[in-house]
Amino acid sequence: MTELNGRRVLVTGGAGRIGMATVRHLNEVGARVTTLSDVENPDLKADRVLIGDTRSEADVAAALDEVEYVVHLAALAHPSAGTPYDVYTINVVSTFNVLAQAGARGIRRAVIASSINATGMPFNPHDIKPAYFPWDERLPTDIGDWYSLSKQNDENTARMAWRRWGIDVVALRFPHVNSPTELHRIADRMREEPRSGMREAWSYLDTRDAAYSIELGLTAPLFGAYTFFATADTTIAPYPTEALLDAYAPGVPRLRPFVGREVPIDLTAIRSVLGFQARHELDLPTLDLPAQEL
Ligand SMILES: NC(=O)c1ccc[n+]([C@@H]2O[C@H](COP(=O)([O-])OP(=O)(O)OC[C@H]3O[C@@H](n4cnc5c(N)ncnc54)[C@H](O)[C@@H]3O)[C@@H](O)[C@H]2O)c1
Repeated sequence: MTELNGRRVLVTGGAGRIGMATVRHLNEVGARVTTLSDVENPDLKADRVLIGDTRSEADVAAALDEVEYVVHLAALAHPSAGTPYDVYTINVVSTFNVLAQAGARGIRRAVIASSINATGMPFNPHDIKPAYFPWDERLPTDIGDWYSLSKQNDENTARMAWRRWGIDVVALRFPHVNSPTELHRIADRMREEPRSGMREAWSYLDTRDAAYSIELGLTAPLFGAYTFFATADTTIAPYPTEALLDAYAPGVPRLRPFVGREVPIDLTAIRSVLGFQARHELDLPTLDLPAQEL
């Protein structure tokens, strides 16, 4: 049990992929969970299940009743999940509405889902390369799509909410998050097409670890608005990271060498502030990168 035992937590987007795992996890640590989603999910088991829109002031006000902690996950989670206008406005208005109301009510802590896309790398329409490896939270961004822009904006909203109302906010930059079965499917594809993973630094996270990182984001002793990459320690490609970088990012500076399948993302910040380390890693072989890929 953690300090969340018996405390009320609002999870927006609780009916979604990360939301379902988060609600399950928070139930397990004894929290009383309220969910706010715009769709029903018969498998969702929460203390209070609300159907509504996170852009609505009234819906969010009702959902925040008796709430002490907020987890904001509701979003259109891909550039093609709606029109550019819908993806951008639903995401940024929802995050503003949830954090502004939580802050104004004096709620002390929120966790929001940012994304590795806040870097602008994965969906950028141009042939760009990152400034360096390993990525860290100071990596220069290069935004070329509305979903990534919404996530970058959400991180700014978090900083504003803390500055204005003193609500501590943890923004977690998730990579692709999924079940072990789906992650293994992606790993099979990475084995065939390792080039396609470069713009995500070949990173991934199991949904159960996403939920665990959210719990730590709610409970770790901290003060302020933080952004953390939250990924597994290893890559989703069955090749040595150094070989992948030699082949697909040859001109990109490497600030340190990488061991085996170590993910080329610096996880120092989340490890030292939240104490997070993924507990569910993919068991992949480390193969030689095929010569035609070099
Ligand atoms: N799954 C990933 O790989 C991944 C990676 C990086 C970041 N994220 C972020 O994590 C969060 C959760 O992602 P997910 O994979 O669980 O997505 P998901 O699509 O499975 O879940 C999101 C939920 O939010 C709900 N929603 C959308 N708009 C809403 C609105 N206006 N009002 C109320 N509910 C609304 C949807 O109905 C859905 O149930 C999102 O913010 C996403 O951008 C996800």
